[in-house]
Amino acid sequence: MKGIIFTEFLELVEQKFGFDMVDDIIEMADLPTGGEYTAVGSYDHQEIVSLVMALSEKSGLTPSQLQKVYGNHLFSRFPVLYPELFEKSADDALGFLEGVETYVHVEVRKLYPEAELPTFDTHRPKPDELVMIYSSKRHFSDLAEGLIEGCINHFGDEFRIERDELEDGAKTRFHLKK
Ligand code: HEM
Repeated sequence: MKGIIFTEFLELVEQKFGFDMVDDIIEMADLPTGGEYTAVGSYDHQEIVSLVMALSEKSGLTPSQLQKVYGNHLFSRFPVLYPELFEKSADDALGFLEGVETYVHVEVRKLYPEAELPTFDTHRPKPDELVMIYSSKRHFSDLAEGLIEGCINHFGDEFRIERDELEDGAKTRFHLKK
């Protein structure tokens, strides 16, 4: 997993809980890298899982809540980190989300050929609804939900997200409606 996902996570932990918490969870998680990440490096995605588990233990929030909060925050950072991706993509939440598979992550793959990306199947049952099926053997559907929420907030839209597990974490259906 790309280092940017780790560096942004640790920055959020520092902002919300302070620098000592960053130190504590790195120690608790007992990581092969020792928590030294650069934005352009690549690291085992299991390390972010260990960091989230450690933060969950220390904060009392569930790993699923933490992944969602992080996803929401991460999306708010994307316009700053990757402004060019917002220039050519849709200017509403459903259009942007529809383009994650066919445009956004395609561009991400050009920037980082070694990126480990999920797949999304999308369709529009109605003009103001979107069904988005997340698949990944890395089981980051809570992170995906947080990113979807962050995207909705970014565009100032209001959608409810209905969620169904299709394959025990590896496949999740998100249905966005007003
Ligand atoms: C400008 C918008 C976006 C950018 C720049 C972006 C970029 C990235 C990057 C760099 C990674 C890490 C790849 C790796 O670890 O090697 C990633 C992974 C991921 N992205 Fe995106 N992404 C964007 C939008 C979204 C949205 C809107 C969603 C949700 C609908 C999403 C879902 C995910 C998930 C869940 C992962 C984790 C990997 C996995 O589940 O297998 N991304 N993305």
